[in-house]
Amino acid sequence: MCSPANRCPRETESRWITTHERHRDERSDAAIQVDCFASLAMTDNSRYSTPMLSETHARARGLANLPPVTSDSLLALIAMANADPRIDKIDVGVGVFRDGAGNTPILKVVKEAERRLLETQSTKAYLGSAGDKRFAELIGPILLGSHADDERIGGLQTPGGCGALRLGFELIATANREARVLVGTPTWPNHPPIIRAVGLEQFDYPYYERGQAAIRFDEMLETFRSARPGDVALLHGCCHNPTGADLSEEQWREVTRVVSEAGLIPFIDIAYQGFGRGLEEDAAGVRMMVEACDEVIIAQSCDKNFSVYRDRVGSLWVKTGSRETTATAIAHVCQRAREMWSMPPDHGAAAVRIILDDPELSANWLVELAAMRDRINSVRARLAAADPRLAFIGRQFGMFSMLPLSKEQVLKLRESHGIYMADSGRFNVVGMSDEAVDRFTTAIVDAMDG
Ligand code: LMR
Repeated sequence: MCSPANRCPRETESRWITTHERHRDERSDAAIQVDCFASLAMTDNSRYSTPMLSETHARARGLANLPPVTSDSLLALIAMANADPRIDKIDVGVGVFRDGAGNTPILKVVKEAERRLLETQSTKAYLGSAGDKRFAELIGPILLGSHADDERIGGLQTPGGCGALRLGFELIATANREARVLVGTPTWPNHPPIIRAVGLEQFDYPYYERGQAAIRFDEMLETFRSARPGDVALLHGCCHNPTGADLSEEQWREVTRVVSEAGLIPFIDIAYQGFGRGLEEDAAGVRMMVEACDEVIIAQSCDKNFSVYRDRVGSLWVKTGSRETTATAIAHVCQRAREMWSMPPDHGAAAVRIILDDPELSANWLVELAAMRDRINSVRARLAAADPRLAFIGRQFGMFSMLPLSKEQVLKLRESHGIYMADSGRFNVVGMSDEAVDRFTTAIVDAMDG
């Protein structure tokens, strides 16, 4: 077997390939059929000689052959909104909290923690693939409550919630390539590509009916009941993205029962803890699952509730049936992290750790978090009061809601009013300043009437 490191310089009409590469080519591109076995036969002497590659006459493929990429719709929307020169544009596309003045300020507690970090940090030596262990220790009780001490649960720092999702699905794929991931529709647009990237099959379940603004609860449970044991139920812990339609406590109880009876692995994505009903209340679903199921995966993010978006602060949590199995699972996860990013970025997690390690800063964080939540809920109330057709917005949670608008209506709002929202009608309720709320609702009501 040749190692991929033994590649020869590229040629124009022929190239050298490894056996490993040949098999990959066969899977990905049936047109490329090359025979590389002849000169790859290993002899007893081969370990003493330079590994050889066989020549093939297939056409060279380089970066110029890359297919175009359809960029992530939310990132494309950010770019479009930024490029719009209209000063009264309303960017409710991406999920970033904005205050009444339309800004995303750095939290005071984060500024203070960063100041302390700057003054006290004495080294930037590596921490390892699990990142800042004290950070994870402090996040544990916030997320898991009394389950934080359960020795069957392990957690580690990740680059944001995305990093945690990727690692969690890597773990599933390592344990069971046949597992199917049950994904509610609609879901956050980055879920399917992450699942695809690890090679797991996605199976959609109905979650939300946009026209009725209702959760399709019975259908969701029906899908779960029909799944195979070992399949993964992907759930949003709170502040459902993109709909804002959260399960009630009673519904969480029922989902937990069905998931546990069907032998599914709940995989909970919780990126907005504290933005919905409250810090504790928002973790209720996570805790029920941890209580009831032997195997649970949780992808947690601090990017929003500490407002450290670009610093990428998150964590992955794994519960298995025993302390030993969890240790093995975490070792796998660390190895996957090592292969992808080696170690998570430190700065944001270190700032969060300083806050949570200090009672006064922690208390101040809760106050700032409550202020963000209050703004979300007060804008929701204003939008809900503007028209009976928008009343559902007041019954939902978190930053997102989904308007019953067609793609054409969304495009028209973009062109005529500079209102940027996802084509699905998802919008960030706190993407707009207080001053823009009335303009926004007038334009939306006009669009719904027209
Ligand atoms: C969003 O959904 O807008 C945010 O979570 C940002 C992102 O990464 O998509």
